[in-house]
Amino acid sequence: MAKNNTGVLTLAVDIGGSGIKTIVLDESGEAVTKRNRVETPQPPQPEAVLGAIVSLANAQGEFHRVSVGFPGVVRRGVVFTAVNLDPDWVEFDLATILSERLGKPVRVCNDADIQGLGAISGVGVELVITLGTGFGTALFVDGKLVPNLEGGHHPFRKGETYEQQLGRAALEKVGEERWNKRVLKALRNWQNLFSCDRIYIGGGEAKKISVNLPDNVTIIPNITGLLGGIALWRGDN
Ligand code: BGC
Repeated sequence: MAKNNTGVLTLAVDIGGSGIKTIVLDESGEAVTKRNRVETPQPPQPEAVLGAIVSLANAQGEFHRVSVGFPGVVRRGVVFTAVNLDPDWVEFDLATILSERLGKPVRVCNDADIQGLGAISGVGVELVITLGTGFGTALFVDGKLVPNLEGGHHPFRKGETYEQQLGRAALEKVGEERWNKRVLKALRNWQNLFSCDRIYIGGGEAKKISVNLPDNVTIIPNITGLLGGIALWRGDN
């Protein structure tokens, strides 16, 4: 339950391929409740996922508006791709339908974009990579998001994409040592492509990184995927 708080409270939701998480944030973006989590329902179809979000939200107590990080391309609240969830998500108006279920205004954004909004400094070229079920990317130039980079589905090596080589399934298949070597190679590619001032690595598997990273690369905590949600309402307080 929320601490005593009189301001506008935001429920932040992170929909992932393996878990769904929520937390309540105050106007400054500080967490005022404990994060709760359930396993992503299988199959991860819209109704089941909505049900999980509503249960988590009910357990969080009071909030006035909602920010959702979704693992796919989202435009104006409508899902366009959901590679690691279910094809039923395509064209699903997540913002409108979740808003009806929760009785609160809802804004939805790509999950990697939200990680980025919670991590970047706003200066120069900043790239965010998320390592979890999938491989997420978000690129910012002086704090402005370049939309829908979807780097995970770009070709990487051996005829496979970044996500096929570095997603959780690949990590489990090839083991941490080989996966770590691939992480370094991927970082070199993205650095060569964008001459990044900073690269941030988030997501549930970032903790498995054991190689020395280049000086401009920082690992960010996975909770950034929730904390960044406040940015979707910036300027609206
Ligand atoms: C999706 C991205 C998402 C990433 C991490 C990819 O499969 O296409 O939109 O950011 O997974 O969840």
